[in-house]
Amino acid sequence: MLDFTKFIKYSKPGPRYTSYPTALEFNDSFGYDEYINKLKNQDSSRPISLYFHLPFCRNACYFCGCNVVFTSKEDKMTRYKEYLFKEIDLVASTVDITREVIQLHFGGGTPTFYSASELEEIILYIKKTFKNFSKNAEISCEIDPRHINEDQMRIMSENGFNRVSFGIQDFNEKVQEAVHRIQPFDMTMDAMKLARKYNMHSVNVDLIYGLPYQSLETFKENLDLALKLDPDRFAVFNYAHVPWLKKTMRKIDETTLPTPDVKLEIMKYTIDFMQKNGYKMVGMDHFAKPSDELFKAIKSGELHRNFQGYTTKGGADLIGIGLTSIGEGQADYYAQNFKTMSEYENAIDSNKLPFERGVSLSEDDKVRQYIIMELMSNFKLDIKRFEEKFNMNFKENFADAIETLQEYKDADLLSIDDKEIVCSPTGEMLIRNISIPFDAYMKNHSKNKKTFSKTV
Ligand SMILES: C[S@@+](CC[C@H](N)C(=O)[O-])C[C@H]1O[C@@H](n2cnc3c(N)ncnc32)[C@H](O)[C@@H]1O
Ligand code: SF4
Repeated sequence: MLDFTKFIKYSKPGPRYTSYPTALEFNDSFGYDEYINKLKNQDSSRPISLYFHLPFCRNACYFCGCNVVFTSKEDKMTRYKEYLFKEIDLVASTVDITREVIQLHFGGGTPTFYSASELEEIILYIKKTFKNFSKNAEISCEIDPRHINEDQMRIMSENGFNRVSFGIQDFNEKVQEAVHRIQPFDMTMDAMKLARKYNMHSVNVDLIYGLPYQSLETFKENLDLALKLDPDRFAVFNYAHVPWLKKTMRKIDETTLPTPDVKLEIMKYTIDFMQKNGYKMVGMDHFAKPSDELFKAIKSGELHRNFQGYTTKGGADLIGIGLTSIGEGQADYYAQNFKTMSEYENAIDSNKLPFERGVSLSEDDKVRQYIIMELMSNFKLDIKRFEEKFNMNFKENFADAIETLQEYKDADLLSIDDKEIVCSPTGEMLIRNISIPFDAYMKNHSKNKKTFSKTV
């Protein structure tokens, strides 16, 4: 067994790199007109990926880091749906909607707080506008197993949804109580049975390690139970504890959180457990069966990282619709919608897309984005391929980063030569740390200021 106490020093704040530059760098200098121009002038041969944010939830899970609107008011949800339709119309007047749609994702919050008929109404509105859905489009929804019924699953299936993701987090009762999320195993099993009955090709389950009262022993039981569900994919997230950003996290007693060495032990055990049970590690925090497309993508080098984690559909432009949604033009820009409902509605009422801020990528950003995304997806960087792509000498341009990585090399966390950087199995667990030296913005963030969650 590795001695994880010697890795505790790597537990420091760092981005999760669902984007580069990270959302902290989004700013006002990328303005509305520039964004609209980008949307209008996108290459029509490039497909589209659509993300819809359906932000509503009834009760807060204390660990939740998502962009959620807590409500039980039906009229608030109906009103939001109407605004979504107006936003779809505004997108349609800007973007070439004859482009092929290869991906549609409903994220949240909890999209299934909308009833079956409301979900159908939303799907039909999208399909009425974007008529060119690919036959093989990935259409997916995040589902809270505590809030799903057969009608909803059936409606999704009938309308082309072919993958779902269930939030579990942890099955242990003491952990569930501490995070304010009671979800018995049988409830999750019933949701899984529904997904199978309605032919969802790929079913993902989310677990989190780093929650209150978790230990290696409790997490082992957690994994044994989760395996009984036989999902196609697992996401096993490192709990991002950012109470200075998320008020509900302040309800968590920090003295009950597992220490970094325990978290590393849990992670190491999880990786071995997944391998033993036929799942392969696919990028940071994710595991897939060899039959799953995510695993096939890693073999063919087509795995890409984005705001939803990892995807096989890398060549598309992502359009985010709804409160706080983020869009991404391929190696070009990131754009985020307003975060408050009033600003979101006001923009749409003035016939403007509810874009708040973003970033247009500089040449330097594009190069670093490539390196960081390669590391985060494949745990290696093919230096020769990089040099051909960017016509740039890697060692000359990244001498500082290479020097910083020396410490990781000495600790056997990676190897580096003229051809490639390759992480060792232990290095893979510290991939956020290994990516940081390539991030040009990290030096602007004071070490004392609370910004990112801890890497371990
Ligand atoms: C929008 S939620 C999933 C759908 C649904 N609301 C649910 O909870 O079942 C997305 C996922 O993000 C993960 N997540 C939320 N907050 C997190 C945090 N602070 N750190 C790590 N993962 C987190 C959870 O695993 C959760 O299932
Ligand atoms: S984890 Fe899911 S159900 Fe819980 S508050 Fe966050 S979005 Fe809602």
